[in-house]
Amino acid sequence: MANEKAKLTLHTGEEIELPVYKPALGNDVLDVTSLVKHGVFTYDPGFMSTASCESKITFIDGDKGVLLYRGYAIEDLAVNSDFMEVAYLLLNGELPNKEEKQEFLDELNNHTMLHEQLTHFFNGFRRDAHPMAVMVGVVGALSAFYHDSLDINDPEHRRRSAFRLIAKVPTIAAMCYRYSMGFPFVYPRNEMSYAENFLNQMFSMPSTDEKPDPVLVRAMDRIFTLHADHEQNCSTSTVRLAGSSGANPFACIASGIASLWGPAHGGANEACLKMLHEIGDVKRIPEFIKRAKDKDDPFRLMGFGHRVYKNFDPRAKVMRESAHEVLEALGAKDDPILKVAMELEKIALEDPYFVERKLYPNVDFYSGIILSAIGIPTNMFTVIFALARTVGWVAQWSEMISEPNQKIGRPRQMYNGEKKRDFVDLDKR
Ligand code: CMC
Repeated sequence: MANEKAKLTLHTGEEIELPVYKPALGNDVLDVTSLVKHGVFTYDPGFMSTASCESKITFIDGDKGVLLYRGYAIEDLAVNSDFMEVAYLLLNGELPNKEEKQEFLDELNNHTMLHEQLTHFFNGFRRDAHPMAVMVGVVGALSAFYHDSLDINDPEHRRRSAFRLIAKVPTIAAMCYRYSMGFPFVYPRNEMSYAENFLNQMFSMPSTDEKPDPVLVRAMDRIFTLHADHEQNCSTSTVRLAGSSGANPFACIASGIASLWGPAHGGANEACLKMLHEIGDVKRIPEFIKRAKDKDDPFRLMGFGHRVYKNFDPRAKVMRESAHEVLEALGAKDDPILKVAMELEKIALEDPYFVERKLYPNVDFYSGIILSAIGIPTNMFTVIFALARTVGWVAQWSEMISEPNQKIGRPRQMYNGEKKRDFVDLDKR
């Protein structure tokens, strides 16, 4: 795999040769696994320069604004494909033909319902619980129900649990919302597409037979597609790390949901909408821009900036189009909060502070606007991100578990605490 070598001269004068890998795309990779034998560790908090695994699923070039799923550009997939094809692609490596797609959907549809006993879990939560708290709990609890797919060493078990997770997350997500509202749960309708069924489970009422608006279904499907995977981000790395110990897939995905919840990651779309409400009026934007630039103020413009995309976020480009389509279809262009969003986008794209630091609106900025226009409450935004990302988490987890010499993830540290000292009895302290 490695024909070239890099030479590292240690502070002790020792010279070490490190294999250099040339991946299909992206930076060359130095293999530092042998360093521990020479008595040194690498130090890279935040994993700024560390490839934690080898993967064939997703590629990002942050400088060029490129995102590929299995080699296909995200813009192509978002416009020409749909979420179920993308799910198949991420899991299997190729786009499905017609028969393969139908088989995939049929198998998925076998698993869309939840074990009825699981519905009782919801009653244990307060109605005002954050839906992400409920998601973490209920998705983790799936492992208590589906014992016939918990053997991670059995490829058939892994396949079945992958289907179960992808099929059941929309049902669980919609139930989180319905429970918070006190509405009756809606069973899945397998004749509908994944996105349509989700919107139906969210909003359908017993008294009407109204189906979700196709424009909103399309926008929802795009949101799912654009959020399906994003290589080794914080939550995906969490899923891999949890899975590396041999934990079952339901528990691993629950750990990913917990990790996604934070405002610097999946919680950004919720934080963004909260911020738009806090700003409240176009006239107050300069005040908030000033705060965002002030180093003594912890406030940041939520929905702007990205760890990897330092040029533009290719997902945001497609999402922006969808946002305008949805606002048009719903006649919501005059909504004051959406006006704040559009003005903020304009100012931030022109302001030197944001331009110089390459802080562009990210996907969460626009997805928040769309979800809000569809009528999805702000605290459900990250749940929807989790729903879509379940496909990526499952694909990444399966890839890792299928590796022949998969190791438990176990980073080291730079210890700077007390050196060894003697114990002091309680009465002498
Ligand atoms: N508002 C104001 N200033 C910012 C922002 C922001 N949103 N983001 C970064 N900066 C500034 C930061 O203060 C720093 O300035 P300076 O160089 O003068 O010290 C510079 O830009 C670089 O920032 P950083 O914190 O070193 O960048 P990072 O790569 O560590 O952080 C980020 C990336 C996404 C955590 C950060 O941009 C941020 O907090 N954004 C808001 C939250 C957000 O929208 N997150 C969603 C990301 S997309 C969804 C996902 O993939 O998870």
